[in-house]
Amino acid sequence: MQKTALITGASSGIGLELARIFAREGFNLFITARREERLHTLKKELEDANSIRVFVLAVDLSKNDAPGKIHQFVQKHDIQITALINNAGIGDYGFFKDADWNRVSSIIDLNMKSLTHLTHLFIPELLKQKDGYIMNVASTAAFQPGPLMSVYYASKHYVLAFSEAIANELSDSGINVSALCPGPTESEFQEVANMKKSKLFDRFPVATSQEVAEYGYKSLMNGKRVAIYGLMNKIAPKFISLVPRCWVTAAVRKIQERK
Ligand SMILES: NC(=O)c1ccc[n+]([C@@H]2O[C@H](COP(=O)([O-])OP(=O)(O)OC[C@H]3O[C@@H](n4cnc5c(N)ncnc54)[C@H](OP(=O)(O)O)[C@@H]3O)[C@@H](O)[C@H]2O)c1
Repeated sequence: MQKTALITGASSGIGLELARIFAREGFNLFITARREERLHTLKKELEDANSIRVFVLAVDLSKNDAPGKIHQFVQKHDIQITALINNAGIGDYGFFKDADWNRVSSIIDLNMKSLTHLTHLFIPELLKQKDGYIMNVASTAAFQPGPLMSVYYASKHYVLAFSEAIANELSDSGINVSALCPGPTESEFQEVANMKKSKLFDRFPVATSQEVAEYGYKSLMNGKRVAIYGLMNKIAPKFISLVPRCWVTAAVRKIQERK
């Protein structure tokens, strides 16, 4: 059976670029996101350019039943998932006290719950193959508290800690688990998170989604458990660990404040 990569959030940004890379490397794909038309456009592009098959399912991963729907689709079409790429994620800019609860709740459900549920659903099949890959897209936000994006930063702490813990549990199983930690990256993220006015993207080098995806793919294949993209982003957590946490939090607040 040909290996297949399941990629969430493949309709734009890092997920879309990961889909292009996995296709280039000969994986069949199962791509998901909410915007079905975009997924079909990508399916056509990838099937035309590579000898692979692309399955598409439009789902809203902030909904409780979405991971189950994805798993049922895989069983129905007899797809063997070799790589699970939990990439879909969103943020929201602003003070927590002013946040819309439905939005907060959907960030928690998408960034943490769906990622955890999908991982739980697919681990048994990856274990049977004794050869598999799990990439969870975290962020450099995983390394410090993030005033003005508090829930997003906290959700990425979760993704990083969860990934490192299961990487340890699954060592010797033949499954590589990698937490990809991008810094600021060109994609639709900034607009969706309503953070166009934040200084974050002006103060730090901004990578392209393609650069981040190439690095993420290579790190996953090489078994790198925590893959931080970019030299500055790699150095920052080491520096942060030496400085009082309240200073770090205050510095992030300054960076996140509006221009
Ligand atoms: N860009 C950055 O600066 C940056 C930095 C660090 C980490 N990250 C992380 O990188 C990952 C990818 O983000 P990106 O930068 O590529 O942003 P993006 O261009 O906005 O892509 C986000 C993807 O997630 C999907 N998505 C959003 N809500 C969804 C939902 N409820 N159900 C299913 N799919 C959903 C979107 O598709 P639909 O809208 O079609 O559903 C889209 O395909 C995220 O986990 C993000 O937190 C981004």
